[in-house]
Amino acid sequence: MPPIVLFESEGHRNILLEDPELGSAVPSNVHLIVHGAQGILLDPGGPKAFRFIYPAVLAELRRAKLTHLFFSHQDPDIIAGANAWLTQTTAHAYVSRLWTRFVPHFGLDRVMAESLVPIPDEGGVLALGDLDLLVLPAHFIHSPGNFQVYDPASKILYSGDLGASLGPPGAFVEDFDAHLRFMDGFHRRYMAGRRAMQVWARLVRQLDIETIAPQHGSIFRGKVLVQRFIDWAEGLDCGIDLLEETALPTVRLPEGKPA
Ligand SMILES: [Fe+2]
Ligand SMILES: [Fe+2]
Repeated sequence: MPPIVLFESEGHRNILLEDPELGSAVPSNVHLIVHGAQGILLDPGGPKAFRFIYPAVLAELRRAKLTHLFFSHQDPDIIAGANAWLTQTTAHAYVSRLWTRFVPHFGLDRVMAESLVPIPDEGGVLALGDLDLLVLPAHFIHSPGNFQVYDPASKILYSGDLGASLGPPGAFVEDFDAHLRFMDGFHRRYMAGRRAMQVWARLVRQLDIETIAPQHGSIFRGKVLVQRFIDWAEGLDCGIDLLEETALPTVRLPEGKPA
């Protein structure tokens, strides 16, 4: 898939980068925002994706510089390439304060670890040149230290794993009801619970959102689909809402394949 420009205006571009489709790795969206002379890359993925994504980022930056990295949470599909990104760029990387002591286990040396900027639980405003991005708390959907980014220039909400779909046919959602089957199971199992979804819905209803761009699967474009997604998420039983009593296991796990 070639890069898709989600929004463009004078001095501002939002780009969805090509997914390199790495074997059994879950397909992921990598998002780049370029504003004036600066760029921020959201959830760049693992070290294998790096060699595809890095040249694409350089091409899309044109004369701008990658000044910021944003990690929505600590999962491998988000952050396993942190070492490569922090070695090859001078960007500062923003991640929940919950994860700054864990991320260095990906092999970051002391200098690179100092490039990590902890995000407090309440989030904050992140300046990309003269543009203020909102780093929104979205804890427990699904990680306990989880953030989303709202770009007021494009009115895009980058929702991370929330809104993720696995195996949808296109880059954009066409029919919300038909799309549900690609995201229902994921949200019920991975999102932590209804309260987290409700808190999130109340927060984002305060924003003027044109597009919800998740880290996996299709993008919700237009206010009608955005509204439908928020309503659906707000009413979803998930995670601990669905947790049942557990029993001691009796079924033997499968053997690994012989080497
Ligand atoms: Fe995740
Ligand atoms: Fe993910």
